[in-house]
Amino acid sequence: MPKIFVQGNELDCDRGANLRQVLIQHGIALYNGNAQWINCHGIGTCGTCAVQVDGDVSEANWRDRTRRSLPPHTPDRTRRLACQTQVLGDISVTKFDGFWGQGDRVLWDAQS
Ligand code: FES
Repeated sequence: MPKIFVQGNELDCDRGANLRQVLIQHGIALYNGNAQWINCHGIGTCGTCAVQVDGDVSEANWRDRTRRSLPPHTPDRTRRLACQTQVLGDISVTKFDGFWGQGDRVLWDAQS
């Protein structure tokens, strides 16, 4: 059973679980500021669920790649859309600042 290390927590989930759903179910503040209200609810169009993921997850699908190729995201960053990502093994998750999570300052990570 994969583990997700986030904000000092160790969350268990099924292999193939949707990262966005697991984080929300465990009360993790995936969205920054008003993005918690203004988001696409997981269809992969808003880009506000962007996080950095270290560990074994699914390949980025076309929705993930397409949205992250558009501003304010840039395709050269190692971010992923949580709503388009399946957890395949143990992972650590990091959230950055900015409405879309597109910034450079870490807001939270695996430890805190
Ligand atoms: S929730 Fe909108 S792209 Fe993930």
